[in-house]
Amino acid sequence: MQKILDLISEEMKQAFEAAGYDPELGKATLSNRPDLCEYQCNGAMAGAKKYHKAPLMIAQDVAEKLQESSVLSEVSAVAPGFLNMRVKESFVRDYLRDMSGAEKFGFQTPGSKKIIIDYGGPNVAKPLHVGHLRSGIIGESIKRICRYAGHEVIGDIHLGDWGLQMGLIITELQKRQPDLIYFDDSYEGEYPKEAPFTISELEEIYPTASAKSKEDEAYKADAMEATYKLQSGVRGYRALWDHIIAVSVADLKKNYVNLNVEFDLWKGESDVHDMIPGMVEEMKKGGYAYESDGALVVDVKEETDTKEVPPCMILKSDGASLYNTTDLATIMDRMENFHPDRLIYLTDKRQDLYFEQVFRCARKTKLVNEETELIHIGFGTMNGKDGKPFKTREGGVMRLENLIREINEEMIRKIQENAETKGYEIDMEQAGETAKIVGLAAIKYGDLSNQASKDYIFDMDRFTSFEGDTGPYILYTIVRIKSILAKYEEQGGKLTDTVIQEATNVSEKSLMLELAKYNAMMETVCEEVAPHKICAYIYDLANAFNHFYHETKILTEEDQEKKAGWIALLTLTRDVLETCIDLLGFSAPERM
Ligand code: ARG
Repeated sequence: MQKILDLISEEMKQAFEAAGYDPELGKATLSNRPDLCEYQCNGAMAGAKKYHKAPLMIAQDVAEKLQESSVLSEVSAVAPGFLNMRVKESFVRDYLRDMSGAEKFGFQTPGSKKIIIDYGGPNVAKPLHVGHLRSGIIGESIKRICRYAGHEVIGDIHLGDWGLQMGLIITELQKRQPDLIYFDDSYEGEYPKEAPFTISELEEIYPTASAKSKEDEAYKADAMEATYKLQSGVRGYRALWDHIIAVSVADLKKNYVNLNVEFDLWKGESDVHDMIPGMVEEMKKGGYAYESDGALVVDVKEETDTKEVPPCMILKSDGASLYNTTDLATIMDRMENFHPDRLIYLTDKRQDLYFEQVFRCARKTKLVNEETELIHIGFGTMNGKDGKPFKTREGGVMRLENLIREINEEMIRKIQENAETKGYEIDMEQAGETAKIVGLAAIKYGDLSNQASKDYIFDMDRFTSFEGDTGPYILYTIVRIKSILAKYEEQGGKLTDTVIQEATNVSEKSLMLELAKYNAMMETVCEEVAPHKICAYIYDLANAFNHFYHETKILTEEDQEKKAGWIALLTLTRDVLETCIDLLGFSAPERM
């Protein structure tokens, strides 16, 4: 379907032409004076010079041609030459009827690219913390948006499952349980199926090991040795590593399910280990990589740089690979096995320069094709109310699980409070389930309603509020609509028999015009990969709906056709809202 603004512009163009002016002047925009009109056109001002005529006269000529329009009503030329207009009720009605019947509300999805999104990026054996929250939330939403736009999208978690962190864990395990069969080099039999640790032990082992290695040189040397043995394939070490991955991934999966975040691929840094030597060889052969102070580097600075872009280091002087090395090898792997047109990475924006280096290196060394798009979406920090990175009350790193638990508790409290003020009983078990759904919306909306690159303040009280620009407010609105629709059905009405009618008052028309913006909004969201614009839209839409709701006695309306029309309008509003929140990665409960 065409965007409503394009249809209006079309009408304006014809009028400009009919009045003898250049049709290109007929571009309509949303009104910046909603008190005066719904749409406006400033074309007459632009035409004044060309036609040596007062803009007001041009505007009057055009307005005259629109007196009979089936699209516009109340077209007026106002000084110094603006055209103010409203759209006909029948035109909006027809537009929304078409939207209701069309797939994706008539949104055209031109996407045809193959995209890989690298998000989440948790490290095994380490608990998820709020830093991983943003990558998961934003990545998931972007994945859904790109799919909605028609692209083929693969989401890859890109686990941090290689390198020194693994050596540290193995070392600490060996200190604690030196007799484990995994450390017996002469053992040739099969290793046990059960892991010799639980996830909680694992999560305690890593920080302990990491702290020890910072103080104790010998310990660190052991960990490096263990890393080396693991990476060179020592059997017992590989078997232990398999256990670490299995225990950790099972726990991660549980956490991501709770977040409603899904990955198509659970690949990790380790998967490309074997590709590194070949890649390095190619980079040397191509003349791109050279030795500098013992390390192997590729220059990536460009003449137009205004800041210093250091060379991309491929191998350390001891021959060990780095974070970049695995990222580059992963690009190679993705290109060979998936042939993507676009690669999108989601990490903290502090990795901006890092990805600039990696991307330049990938291009220069021809790991990607010329047309392959490499995009890094760097997000800001989630801060506490003190404006500093979010911490626990004790000042430690906030585990994601705990954060979610706190939100859920707060949500249960708010649900109870709401029930009390409204005077109805709630079932505590159900309230718990509802709190999970609403709590997730609170976290996700709180995050996604900000432009990704900006820092934001995690404000529990505000995020969980049922009022204002929040997830719970959006869900509350959806639940309200659902409840009206359910009552309509209880009264014997059939939802499928209803059709949208002409608006009969201002708030109804505003709601209709808000719905009509859907196509344009979605186009921008997809082009700019900007989930925050979905949030802004649904907030406006929810406001428009609630305004209408407060002014209209829907279920007691005597005129059945009018009532059915409202029900159809509510159905469309609910469907649009639910589609939007699905793209943000959350859903609405049946009641709240
Ligand atoms: N594992 C990394 C971390 O926790 C994030 C990985 C991001 N993705 C990537 N391809 N480098 O910081």
